[in-house]
Amino acid sequence: MSDSSPSTETQPSAFDLIGGEAAVQALVQRFYDLMDLEPAYRELRAVHGPALDSARQKLFWFLCGWLGGPQHYVERFGHPRLRARHLPFAIGIRERDQWLACMRQAMHEQGLDEALAARLAAAFFNTADWMRNTTG
Ligand code: HEM
Repeated sequence: MSDSSPSTETQPSAFDLIGGEAAVQALVQRFYDLMDLEPAYRELRAVHGPALDSARQKLFWFLCGWLGGPQHYVERFGHPRLRARHLPFAIGIRERDQWLACMRQAMHEQGLDEALAARLAAAFFNTADWMRNTTG
């Protein structure tokens, strides 16, 4: 789990603030729908294989835990080792920025509270930036 996870022990978790599993599921579906549809995310989409079903399922499981909810991903796969799992894919600034923009658009379209979306965007930046494994 990345240190940039936005959850805390003392406050309601981001998972609760978003609206639980149904809301995380809707966010992830919108994120990959946008990746598939929007020309602005073309290069990000191209890094993925033809089908996005596995990515949708895994990002949903992962985000539930990352946001402070149930640890579905860790229960199934152990430690996420996200950087290692992304090494097969060339991730530079362009891919990072498209991922972040796609997620910001999905959060906006799902009607997330703006302060929460800004807090999550900052945490997503740290995680996505740490995933870069190529220059450019
Ligand atoms: C920085 C740009 C990123 C790119 C280009 C990228 C790309 C990818 C690709 C191509 C896959 C494989 C999908 C598949 O199995 O078909 C993947 C998997 C995954 N990504 Fe990303 N990703 C990025 C950032 C992130 C971030 C910021 C997160 C979390 C906040 C994340 C979470 C995941 C998870 C949980 C998986 C599934 C890993 C597994 O168990 O195989 N990714 N990503």
